[in-house]
Parts: sequence; C-alpha cells; structure tokens
Amino acid sequence: MNAREKEEYLREYEILKKKGKPFFPYAIMKDSVMMLVVAGVLIVMSIVMGAEQGPKADPTTTTYTPRPEWYFFYLFELLRVIKPPALVPVATIGIPTICMVLLLLLPFYDRGPERVPWKRPIATITGIMVIIAMAYLTFLGATAGSPTEIELETAPQYEKGKAIVAESGCLACHSIGENGAHGGLGPDLTDIGSKIPKEAIKQSVTIGPGIMPSFQGLGEQNLNAVADYLASLDGEE
Ligand code: HEC
Repeated sequence: MNAREKEEYLREYEILKKKGKPFFPYAIMKDSVMMLVVAGVLIVMSIVMGAEQGPKADPTTTTYTPRPEWYFFYLFELLRVIKPPALVPVATIGIPTICMVLLLLLPFYDRGPERVPWKRPIATITGIMVIIAMAYLTFLGATAGSPTEIELETAPQYEKGKAIVAESGCLACHSIGENGAHGGLGPDLTDIGSKIPKEAIKQSVTIGPGIMPSFQGLGEQNLNAVADYLASLDGEE
C-alpha cells in the first residue's frame, strides 16, 4: 500500500465511521441476542432429542477399533500416511502448528491492498489447495480399513488363521506388512515363515515368550490355523 492509497483509505474510513453506529451497545446487543438464541436452541434440542451415548467402555477388550471424531480424520490420516516413527511428531505437532502460525501471521506478510479473491491468486490458490487436501485426507481417513486388518494377500486355506491373528490383538505388538505396530514391542512377522518353522511359531504363540502373553486359550485348532498362516508368510507377496 503506497502513501496515496493509505491516505485515501483513511479518508474513506473517517467518513464511514461518522455514518456508523458505535460498537457499544449496538454490536454487543446483536451478539448477545444471537448467543442467547443459539444457547436456547441447544438446550431445547438436548431436552427434546437427548444426547446419544455409545456403549459402556470395556477396558478388557482387545478388538476395539479406536477412531477419532470425523472432523479429526484429516489429522488421523496424516498420521497414517507418515510411517517412520521419527516423523510422527512432525505430522502430529509440526504441520498443524506451522499452518496455524502461518495463518496467524498472514496480515503481517500479506501486505497487498487487494481484497477481491481473483486479484490475490497466491492466497486464493493456497486456500483452495488446503481445503482440497483436508477434504481428501478426511475422505481417506473415513474410508480407512480397520487397524485390526491385515492387507497382505493370503491363499484361501490360510484365511482363517489370518482372521484370528487380526482379531486377537497380535497387531498391537507385531507388524505384518503395512499393518500393525511398526517399531512395537514384538518383532515384525512379515517373513516369519522364512525364519522359523511352523512348530516353533505354534510354540511361541502357545507359551508367549518373554513379555508376550500366552495364547493357549485360543484352542488347539485355532493355534494350528494361526501357525499355518504365519508359516506361510515368507515376505514374498
Ligand atoms: C504384548 C505384546 C505382544 C502381543 C499381543 C503378541 N506378541 Fe508375539 N511377541 C511379542 C514379543 C515381545 C516377542 C519376542 C519375545 C522374545 O523373544 O523374548 C514375540 C514373539 C512372537 C513370535 C516369535 C517370533 C520369533 O522371531 O521368534 C511369534 C511367532 C509371535 N510373537 C506371534 C504372535 C501372535 C500370532 C500373536 C497374537 C495371537 C502375538 N504374537 C501377540 C509381543 C507380543
């Protein structure tokens, strides 16, 4: 903004200010009435329609699928897309913070006098891109498979064992392919079949070596299905 533009703006501002109404009490009055209306609607809605509560929390479940509220799906997806553990703080704290700081500082680095969107192409395009990126990430987050799901292809005879592994909480400590806990407590099982024989796998799952719990409770048949499935994992798809 050059000196002439500034002077013009200040003159216009003076004229408008003389014509206008003071903030107190006019604007305050408007805001207060609107706030009361919104609060009233909320109170009436909660009395008439009630608020839904989910099922009671079960601290012993191992199959619970944690999901954020829909308006956090884009952050959730950002976290899923970024795999290396070292970069996780960047995704969870870094990127959102940088975006907010940039937004906060906008009046300081964007000193252009233009306000019409198409005369500020950089700001407009950036804004549209951010909205598209958030919408896309929200969509991906909303349609993401459950974390108790193994995406590696499996021959039909191993499907049963795969389902048991997916549902038994193994992925809380182990990773298989893209799924499960990368860098978790237990070793990666993607190619476990090429490392130890089926009997040793069954033995591990049955007794639970070290801090791994015993899964003897699955029963002989299920343990065999799990061992067959894991033995089929040789790291090749
Ligand atoms: C609480 C975390 C945890 C859970 C849950 C868990 N494991 Fe483990 N698992 C481990 C750890 C830790 C080890 C390594 C133990 C050791 O060698 O000291 C291990 C080892 C193994 C091994 C032997 C790997 C090798 O290279 O020798 C197999 C096979 C295995 N787990 C399969 C499973 C299966 C199948 C499930 C689910 C039914 C499961 N684990 C659930 C933590 C876990």
